[in-house]
Amino acid sequence: MKKFATLAFVVACLVPAGPAMAAGPSAPLDRANIDLSDTASIQRGAEYFFQYCIGCHSLEHARYNRIGQDLGLTDEQVAEKFVHTRDAAGDPTGVGELIKIAMRPDDAEEWFAQPAPDLTLTARANSPDWIYTVLRNFYLDDSRPLGVNNATFEAMGMPHVLWELQGWQKNVGEDGEIKLELVEEGKMSAEEYDEVVRDITAFMTYVAEPIRMEREAMGMYVIWFLIVFTILAYLLKKEYWRDVH
Ligand code: HEC
Repeated sequence: MKKFATLAFVVACLVPAGPAMAAGPSAPLDRANIDLSDTASIQRGAEYFFQYCIGCHSLEHARYNRIGQDLGLTDEQVAEKFVHTRDAAGDPTGVGELIKIAMRPDDAEEWFAQPAPDLTLTARANSPDWIYTVLRNFYLDDSRPLGVNNATFEAMGMPHVLWELQGWQKNVGEDGEIKLELVEEGKMSAEEYDEVVRDITAFMTYVAEPIRMEREAMGMYVIWFLIVFTILAYLLKKEYWRDVH
């Protein structure tokens, strides 16, 4: 029984956590196809996040310098690439700080009816595919207060902050069906924009579970240990039984 428990523990350590179920409407999600071993993609995603999202969304369970360490950046690089906020005294936020927003939560509530949620754990609460799909599915809609709606997140209270890159889509579907078409070009092609959103999604997935990078590396050590241990145990058994036979 004890052996079984140990085995179950080892197996539990090796199996990566499955993706969380996506919340929200059951419309099909596009595949984000992120790669958590691609640190360049995660780093680009972080740069976009701190450029376009930090004005409204915090990552309150994460620190700048921990992200830097995981991505192989020095504190100076972290300060230069990521930190765009200031502390109460007006100095640039220190790299050891938790990641707070550049806007006061009260202001956010006043401007957008609801405050923008903290996004540290969003990739676990909703799947990476969901985030990837939401960020590509904004469309013009006069009936909404901000003039924009989202095909995956009905009546979303977030403006399309990446419109300059993607351009504007319109709903050309009929009978309540949603079908999006680009009506105003952005700075990027659709493929380039998908790449940007994939990078942001990769960053958000990493930030939701930084330990996953380490755990996947640790799993390999465990497997090698078990292989070497099995060989040694076998040799030892042979050695003992030689005298008996
Ligand atoms: C101008 C403020 C603002 C900016 C900038 C902004 N957001 Fe939002 N975001 C919001 C608000 C407000 C909501 C809540 C919407 C709702 O619940 O209807 C939200 C919700 C979200 C959600 C859904 C979270 C959930 O679990 O419900 C995601 C994902 C998200 N934002 C990602 C981003 C990303 C990525 C960026 C940067 C590219 C970004 N946001 C930039 C205001 C903003």
